[in-house]
Amino acid sequence: MRFGMKSLAILAVAALAANAANAAGDAAKGEKVFKKCKACHKVGPKAKNAVGPVLNGVIGRTAGTYEGYKYGKSLKAAGEAGLVWTEEEVVKWLENPKQYLKDRLGDSKAKTKMTYKLKKEADRVNVAAYLATLSE
Ligand code: HEC
Repeated sequence: MRFGMKSLAILAVAALAANAANAAGDAAKGEKVFKKCKACHKVGPKAKNAVGPVLNGVIGRTAGTYEGYKYGKSLKAAGEAGLVWTEEEVVKWLENPKQYLKDRLGDSKAKTKMTYKLKKEADRVNVAAYLATLSE
């Protein structure tokens, strides 16, 4: 019986490790995915706001707060309600930004200026890992 419990514990740890591995994206692959974002988002030392806000340092930043960018009301409201971008939240956001804000704010009229959706989950996970490598 004791041995049985121990095996279960080992299995549980192994399962956790597998989950962690799934959550961690591949930043190098993510950099390639980011080409799709570049039409609207700039990164790097000389980046300026464009159609979308600069994404340097976006992981760990409160949503809707990059200086000088005119955000939509709903994204600003989400930030004011405490949304801080993590890789996990960015992965959810990219699947469907408008739906993400509707769910997040509990407001069926929520809108966003970002009209782009990234369908493939692996791409979303990898691009989020890439964003995490960019400092402010
Ligand atoms: C067609 C233009 C467009 C594309 C392509 C696009 N975005 Fe956006 N993105 C925007 C706009 C516009 C906003 C601001 C949304 C608002 O204010 O409602 C935004 C906001 C964001 C935010 C929130 C930033 C903040 O400061 O709160 C993140 C994160 C983001 N985009 C990531 C991405 C990533 C990653 C990609 C590529 C997979 C991407 N976007 C592709 C236009 C775009």
